[in-house]
Amino acid sequence: MSAAMSRLAALFCALAMTAAPAARAETPAADAAQGEKMFNACAPCHSLAPGRNMTGPSLAGIWGRKAGSLKSFDRYSAALKASGVVWDGKTLDQWLKSPAGFIPGNSMAFAGIADNQPRADLTAFLKAVSSGERPLPAAMTRPPFDELKKLDAAQQVAAIR
Ligand code: HEC
Repeated sequence: MSAAMSRLAALFCALAMTAAPAARAETPAADAAQGEKMFNACAPCHSLAPGRNMTGPSLAGIWGRKAGSLKSFDRYSAALKASGVVWDGKTLDQWLKSPAGFIPGNSMAFAGIADNQPRADLTAFLKAVSSGERPLPAAMTRPPFDELKKLDAAQQVAAIR
């Protein structure tokens, strides 16, 4: 290798080393797997299974949904219904940072997530599940107790040993 070429190579290395950490600091990659763990904070009140409303509405297909618009959920606050918000990366981020700050008067009893990274992870997870890119967490594919009687034979418990 010529002296000029090795100097060039050294320059590229230096550039690569300085550029990489800077890029990471500006746009932290959102991690949907981490987001799935974060969803534990939501799971007591929300399922991602379609039509499965709990204290809060089902979050199936939340991406692109108008706030307060799920027909099968009849306990929305007037504030959420009147907000005019459509759920996407930006609005979910603001909502999850401070629900009361973003839509005053809403009835979701959740203080918010102050740190940017876990919020980004959580919204990435919601987007991935919403689009079908990521499967539902296993716990949410099991039928709720009130539907156990409606199961077909293959799903019913036949014997307890
Ligand atoms: C204590 C129960 C509770 C917890 C915990 C909770 N939520 Fe909610 N959530 C609700 C209720 C109740 C509503 C309806 C609020 C309203 O009508 O004002 C709601 C509404 C929402 C909506 C709007 C849904 C729609 O159809 O417009 C989103 C999105 C949402 N929650 C996401 C989350 C996420 C993500 C978490 C976890 C970080 C979370 N929530 C934690 C109870 C909860």
